[in-house]
Amino acid sequence: MSTAMYPGTFDPPSLGHMDIIRRASKLCSKLLVTLAHNSGKNTPLFSINERLSFLKLLTQDLRNVEVIHCEGLLIDFAQEKKADFIVRSLRSISDYDFEFEMSSANRKIGNIETLFLMADPSHVHIRSSLIRELAHSGKRLLEYVPEPIEEAVRRRFST
Ligand code: COA
Repeated sequence: MSTAMYPGTFDPPSLGHMDIIRRASKLCSKLLVTLAHNSGKNTPLFSINERLSFLKLLTQDLRNVEVIHCEGLLIDFAQEKKADFIVRSLRSISDYDFEFEMSSANRKIGNIETLFLMADPSHVHIRSSLIRELAHSGKRLLEYVPEPIEEAVRRRFST
């Protein structure tokens, strides 16, 4: 029995995130998809409640996945929830420095390992800033986000 925690800002949840959630859910008994705050990112496109609703909708067919929200430090939350390991995804070498630092800190402070799944090659171009730019220009987003999220993003930019 193992519990894994997959944290992210999920603003919005993308096809890349969903691929990682599906693959990670097969590697543990329980996967805690954890909406977290990244202090390096600007004003979110969607509120916490909106993102939680999206994630719950998108994972409703995955029986061992639970969607939760973390307010404090991720490492404290992972310990509180008794997570055995953290899951993160690497898209390219540009993700490496940040992820290496975070995983080293989490191992040092909380004695917790991070398991990295490589992004699917069809998803490596996905970035939240690109999704916003395309939506702003009225472009379709189905190569980037699941259908219900596309509708929500397009609505957000049409108001
Ligand atoms: N394929 C394609 N794209 C992917 C992907 C995949 N498999 N996995 C992630 N992405 C993209 C996302 O769309 C996003 O794009 P962007 O950088 O253009 O926005 C990016 O990769 C990473 O976003 P995400 O995985 O949602 O989370 P994050 O990098 O914002 O990380 C934390 C959030 C909280 C996990 C991280 O900041 C952290 O560990 N911080 C430590 C401080 C802390 O404890 N904070 C928590 C408070 S609860």
